Amino acid sequence: MNEIVGTSHLKSTPVWERPLAGPDASLANRTETDINAWWLLIDQVIEIATAQGWTKTDVARRIGMPDGTFSQWFSGKYNGRLENQNKQVQLWLDAVGETVGLVAAIPSSPAFLPTIAAKEVLETLHWAQVASDMVIITLEAGMGKTMTCKHFAATRPHVYMVTMSPHTKTVHGMLTDLAQELDVMVHNPARLTRAIGKRLERSGDGTLLIVDEAQNLNDDAVNQLRHFVDIHRCGVALVGNTEIYGRFSKNRDDKRDGPSYAQIKRRIGKRLLRNKPYMDDLRTFISAWGVSDPDAVKFLIGVGNKGGALGQIDKTVKLASMLATGCGEPISLKHLQGAWKNRDVEMDT
Ligand SMILES: Nc1ncnc2c1ncn2[C@@H]1O[C@H](COP(=O)(O)OP(=O)(O)O)[C@@H](O)[C@H]1O
Ligand SMILES: [Mg+2]
Repeated sequence: MNEIVGTSHLKSTPVWERPLAGPDASLANRTETDINAWWLLIDQVIEIATAQGWTKTDVARRIGMPDGTFSQWFSGKYNGRLENQNKQVQLWLDAVGETVGLVAAIPSSPAFLPTIAAKEVLETLHWAQVASDMVIITLEAGMGKTMTCKHFAATRPHVYMVTMSPHTKTVHGMLTDLAQELDVMVHNPARLTRAIGKRLERSGDGTLLIVDEAQNLNDDAVNQLRHFVDIHRCGVALVGNTEIYGRFSKNRDDKRDGPSYAQIKRRIGKRLLRNKPYMDDLRTFISAWGVSDPDAVKFLIGVGNKGGALGQIDKTVKLASMLATGCGEPISLKHLQGAWKNRDVEMDT
């Protein structure tokens, strides 16, 4: 999958204006109660639709009301039996209220924190950018590689980030992803490499290409990246799990470790390798989630040390807080244990 950072994908939010005048009270097919109910419904529709970013057409479709009818009803110009349309909208609001309430109950994760691991990653990325070097960053899953790289890309100029997958591991797949991220439009594949290289060309304090999930890249693709570093003097950071580290480690002596590897190894300016989360980082993250009860903290540290680090803690607290909200209780050890059991953890971070 290709991930583009630093580009806003926000849709423009539809504007819902509250009607100035209500339905015509002189018609015989409505009572004052119907009209009062209409005003209440209008306000709720506006609130939910604005929060969800729904247009009038979206809402009409969701209610199951013809577009034109909804539009008339909403503007107060519906001349049929108001009560019937009111009822239909009310039923929809009740149903939507339940699901929207559920979504609102999922608390959002802490914003970026300067954890020890994050600082180490930031320093390594910074080095790669200013020194136009190739670096390898390998941390255990869930320690914050992706989050920190995104933070770096979002806060510094000339930083690009792509995320590799088993589908984009070849030179061609990687270049296609890169072209998209760098807004390079070249249809002739032979010119693609050059066009991308030009875009990555060192400028100012340096350019940096971050390649997340780099363990997916095949050897030729890594070689192509090295080429960009050599010719265009950009920095490249290979970020991923321990496979990439193993590939370039000093003591490797299997057959694939041919001349091209020797060359790449020589070009690796800096490596960052951490197999275990820092205890301080686990504590920082747990406290940022607002969990302070000593038993709960202890339990979550255990969760973080079982593999998956902060990512695993994050998911557990989220589910626990939904369980707690469901029972109308504040979050406690019992919910965390329940969430952990419930998640039947399979490593997916
Ligand atoms: N520095 C950080 N600040 C805040 N939250 C973090 C930080 N690092 C990790 N996390 C949390 O842990 C989760 C997993 O982090 P992620 O960057 O996806 O890990 P990795 O890429 O190393 O597997 C994130 O979704 C986030 O909730
Ligand atoms: Mg990641």
